[in-house]
Amino acid sequence: YVIGVDLGTSAVKILLVDQQGAVVETVSKPYPLIHEKNGYSEQDPQHWVDQTAAGLKELLGIFGGNAEDIEGISFSGQMHGLVLLDENNEVLRPAILWNDTRTTAECQQIYDVIGQEKLLEITKNPALEGFTLPKILWVQKHEPAIFKKVKSFVLPKDYLRYKLTGKLQMELSDAAGTLLLDVTRKQWSREICDLLELDFSICPPLVESHEEVGTVVSEFASASGLSESTRVFAGGADNACGAIGAGILEEGKTLCSIGTSGVVLSYEAQGNKDFGGKVHYFNHAAPNVFYTMGVTLAAGYSLSWFKETFAPEVSFDELLSDIDQVPAGSNGLVFTPYLVGERTPHADAVIRGSFIGMDGSHRRKDFARAVLEGITFSLQESISIFRENGKTIDTIVSIGGGAQNADWLQMQADIFDAKIVRLTSEQGPGMGAAMLAAFGCSWFPTLQECADAFLQEDKQYLPIEENVLAYKKLFPIYQQVYENTKDLNS
Ligand code: XUL
Repeated sequence: YVIGVDLGTSAVKILLVDQQGAVVETVSKPYPLIHEKNGYSEQDPQHWVDQTAAGLKELLGIFGGNAEDIEGISFSGQMHGLVLLDENNEVLRPAILWNDTRTTAECQQIYDVIGQEKLLEITKNPALEGFTLPKILWVQKHEPAIFKKVKSFVLPKDYLRYKLTGKLQMELSDAAGTLLLDVTRKQWSREICDLLELDFSICPPLVESHEEVGTVVSEFASASGLSESTRVFAGGADNACGAIGAGILEEGKTLCSIGTSGVVLSYEAQGNKDFGGKVHYFNHAAPNVFYTMGVTLAAGYSLSWFKETFAPEVSFDELLSDIDQVPAGSNGLVFTPYLVGERTPHADAVIRGSFIGMDGSHRRKDFARAVLEGITFSLQESISIFRENGKTIDTIVSIGGGAQNADWLQMQADIFDAKIVRLTSEQGPGMGAAMLAAFGCSWFPTLQECADAFLQEDKQYLPIEENVLAYKKLFPIYQQVYENTKDLNS
């Protein structure tokens, strides 16, 4: 057996997986978010450690088998969160998370000092509030007494793994989201540290996702019930692990994951392309390859907002039950899903959403369809950036809430103009982490062979020509809405 631990934003989800890729048991343990001020989002790293140990204990209890039968364990983690450690590797302050937006001034500071061009050349990504480096600069400026004591920084799942093994390291696919990594060369950027007068030694040693980094220390073994002989593998960023868990392991393969927010993520063999910072460009958790990614902030959130506001009495299934009676294009109604601003492609925290083209004949089903089309158009913005940069997007594996409704899956095929695949059993990033452990334990010679054995296709949705044409006409109109509404709230 192997274990995949997905250290998420609201809970840790732990999967026990056998050699056929079947999920034998799962356990999930929540922990709180701390919002001390508007825009702040923090967590206590001790909660991650305690809840993971408690979750493992519960899982091993239900499993009933021998802890020695767990050959390997690996991790997937919420990206970008800043954990600051002192000289004894003690946590100095609560972790500042990926969804904390206090760092707009520090993003500007990064551009002023490093320059946009150099930042993109080295890190391949723009300075965004969610990323780690602006958070480091925020603590440097606002909490100098704490900052003085900083000996190293790590990311959430790397801190958790440190508590398992006693060894402090940073794993590459997560390090890519810090804005301190030279993504192409796979090493920390001394130049960025020097320019910002940060001590280079705060960057821990880098390890690869499938790398074996140790075994379980006795303290954690007794807290969790794990055996000290279980082999520990580094793991990956949650988006990278989500991609592995959906088999995004070759050129052309893309993931569409719709939860509260939405992500489209595409495999990328090269590490030296230039996407102009319009989409994220990170190291994959598969060896020596990369992925590009775009994020829609209010994806599933737009649909739940719509339901709660206009149809609180019905279920999601009921709300979407008659959207197939509305033609592609929602009879002229267009929705933009910028309820909480937008990340890709606009990186605009101020923009807000809209419905345009309303007609007295429109009914709830037209609005419901328009909401789904708007969310999917927003994800299509990322896919068109991938394609404009020469990427082939032919197979898209759809997971999450967006894969629960057949009409929405067909809409994705029609708007993305690609084959959409649904998996039989979808476990998200935790499965990717388990696959890294399985690959690390040499159950398979490659991750691709692990994916072939562990993942099964359920259904395919092919584009319908007529709808593809309707959406191709509508997409430029959707795109213009941003330009024409961006000054509304500024
Ligand atoms: C990616 C991002 C989120 C977090 C969620 O850039 O900010 O998807 O990884 O855990």
